[in-house]
Order: sequence, then C-alpha cells, then structure tokens
Amino acid sequence: MTMIETNVMQRTNNPTLATIASGDGVYLIDKQGNRYLDACGGAAVSCLGHSNQRVKQAIIDQVNDIPYAHTSFFTNESQEQLAEHLLSHAYGEFSQVYFVTGGSEAIEASLKLARQYFFEQGKTDKRFFIARKQSYHGNTLGALAIGGNLWRRKPFDPILVEGHHISACNEYRDKLGNETLFDYGQRIANELETKILELGAENVAAFVAETVGGATAGCLTSPAGYFKRIREICDQYDVLLILDEIMCGMGRTGTLHACEQEGIQGDLETIAKGVSAGYQPLGAVLISEKIVNAIDNGSGFFQHGHTYIGHPSSCAAGLATQLEIQERDLLSNVNTQGENLRKSLHESFNSDSLLTDHIGDIRGRGLFIGIELVADRNSKKAFDPSLKLHAKIKKKAMLNRLMVYPMGGTVDGVNGDHILLAPPFIIDEDNVAQITERLSNSIRAVIQEAL
Ligand SMILES: Cc1ncc(COP(=O)(O)O)c(C=O)c1O
Repeated sequence: MTMIETNVMQRTNNPTLATIASGDGVYLIDKQGNRYLDACGGAAVSCLGHSNQRVKQAIIDQVNDIPYAHTSFFTNESQEQLAEHLLSHAYGEFSQVYFVTGGSEAIEASLKLARQYFFEQGKTDKRFFIARKQSYHGNTLGALAIGGNLWRRKPFDPILVEGHHISACNEYRDKLGNETLFDYGQRIANELETKILELGAENVAAFVAETVGGATAGCLTSPAGYFKRIREICDQYDVLLILDEIMCGMGRTGTLHACEQEGIQGDLETIAKGVSAGYQPLGAVLISEKIVNAIDNGSGFFQHGHTYIGHPSSCAAGLATQLEIQERDLLSNVNTQGENLRKSLHESFNSDSLLTDHIGDIRGRGLFIGIELVADRNSKKAFDPSLKLHAKIKKKAMLNRLMVYPMGGTVDGVNGDHILLAPPFIIDEDNVAQITERLSNSIRAVIQEAL
C-alpha cells in the first residue's frame, strides 16, 4: 500500500489506505480487487457482513417513501417500529428509546438524561459521573470526560468536565493469587461504594460501564456477581447505572444484550454499531420508566436534540438488521462460531512456541474476542510501547488480507497490546480457519521482526 494523496483529514496523516469499492458477505473488496476477510467488523460494527440485501432494500424503500423529516414536526414509522422492537426485546424493563446517530451521541444523551432525571426531582447537586479506568465511551467531550483511557484524554484534560474513575475489572492482571474469582469481582465492585462515599452520594448522578470492556481494554469480562454488586450499590445510593453496550451489545457476545449474562439491567442502556450493522449511522438509548416519568412529570421534555435524531433511513436499516438477526437465528451462529474461533486460536497459538510465549490471554464472549500480547508470558510484562506492535500487526494483517482491530495501551493506557476480533455474525467454519491462519502468520511475522 502506498501513501495516498488526500483532501480529507484522515485518521492519521500520511495514511496508507486502499480505497474501498464493494462488499461481498464477510469480505471487503478494494478498487484493485483485493478481498479482505473481515474479522473485526471495522470497530465491531458490521455484524451482517457487507452485502445484506434485506437491509439495503429497507434503506432504499425508506428513502423512496421519505428520506428525512425533522422530528420536531413529524414522527416516522421506522423509528416507531424500531423502538417497539427494541423495547420488546430488551433485557429488563425499559419504556422509551431515544435515537441518535452513533455511540458518542448515545453516551452524551444518557449523561444528560441522568442529570435531568435528578434535576427534575430537585436533587441538583447530583452531578458527578463515575466510570472505570481503561474504559472507552466515545470521543465527544462528555464521553471523553467519563472515559478512562489516559492517552485519549490527555490533550483535552483541561477542557473536560470532572470524571471519576474506579479500577477496571481485569482478572488477568489484577486478581490476587489467594483470591477466588468471585471475591476478586466483589472487591473491585466495592470500589464503587468507596468512591460514592468519598464524593458524597448526594453529589453522584451515575456510574457508567461497558458491560464487556471493548476497544481500549480488549474484551474484558467480569466475574459472576460483579455487576450484581454494582447494581446493588447503585440502588443503595440512588445512583443511576448506565450500561454502555455500544460495542458489546446487540448480539455480539452471544445474547442480544451483554447484560443478560450478568442478570442485571441498567437504568439507561446505550447501543449503536451492531444495531444497524453499519448500513446507516445509528445509536440509541434505552430509557427505564422512572427516568421517563421523572421527565414527563417534571419539565415535560428532554432538554436535548440533534438535527438527525430518529432518522428514517437509519431506523429502517436498524429494524431490518434486527429482524435479520432474529429470523435467521444468527445468535446461535455467534455462539457456535465464537466457540470454534476460540478453540482454533488456542490450537494455533499452542502449536507454535513463539506464539505460545507471547500470547498472554485470550478472552471475551461470543464473537467478541480479545487477545493480549506480552513480552513475557510468566511475568505478563508488556512489550515496549515504542515498538507499536499493535499497529504493525494491523498493517501486516491487511497485507495478509485480514481485517483485525489491534490497539495499544491495554494495561494502563500506555503499555500493552491487544487484538480485538469481532467478525460478522454470518461467518462459517472456513472463515474461522482463515482468520486463525492469517492472524497467526501476521502476529508471528511481526514478533519475529521485533525481537
Ligand atoms: C463502548 C463504546 N462506547 C462508545 C463508543 C463511541 O461510539 P462512536 O464511535 O459511534 O461515537 C464506542 C466506539 O467504539 C465504544 O466502543
């Protein structure tokens, strides 16, 4: 790949990007005709692959009917139908949905909903948000303020509202040798209580957490009981629980909502990415009844809004995506192929001593898998961050025509490398074998060059 000339402010300067031309199932095809096997859905977005006819047709039909109508003048059938579908398939009780165009917007809306919920009740001191270290909730200022990833925040720190953080739940790195998994989860969950008491419960509005930690932490799951304790603490101190399922939700972990596997619901739940499979930009907040009631019985309206909320073609794409997942029972495939992929990765990594030495952890659920790389498996020491191993693996994998989503700073925002896998829900066994082979080859080549 050669450097491209561009008038677009791309994600990096001097980008070496191919130009995308088309999609075919789990493959993306560039203008030169190269076919890339998609093992990450971009950033865990493309859950239906890249050529789903039903979703494409739903968008075309919607645009033919009405492309856009501002939601202060009209509602539209697509958003009404999608809201009904989402509410009837939610985990727990939610009574309304707020539609936006992506993840960060969903987080901003949920922060404001939490604040307004307390404001309406005259609890105007409730203004602090607590989240977890190494979390990612988006790049807008509010989302960045609560996010726990150091390097993303650093340049903007002086202009961020106050965010407070407790430890990530990371058993691979932080569980003590003499501790059971359950006790570890409880100890880390109890940090929330300590933080609430430190700030004063009367000042805390909400705790925000990715149900399964995604991009910055590499698929961190929590031990059984962790989220139950979190829910208990939130209820005890009148603190709302905002579950961020933007990456891990809508089937990615093998259940429609990741929180189903924890047995708890949030007061607000944010979703995006897989909700419309990337065919149109869409995010949403599921809102529990007490929050809807507080606003209805208070000022009577959510003091928020964007030009494109409830966009008809986005919601049409979202509804078609959700119906595809449901009617084709794609979550069964997520579970089956998730198991296959995990097994295949373990076998491949265990059969090669170089990989065995440098794969520290394979974690995640369903088709949401994180692979943490280490310089030394016994001490779990990370590679020197200046090696930028994660970036090199992404580049090498692209040369091997495989899309994966590696990231650095896994351990503490600076040190550590991981690779995130989040392939489309439609992958088959042959795709699993190809992902494993191309990824193993890419990691091996990069580590060999680095050592
Ligand atoms: C958990 C989580 N929250 C929020 C966001 C922000 O979403 P967006 O990039 O659509 O603004 C992301 C994006 O990766 C995410 O993974």
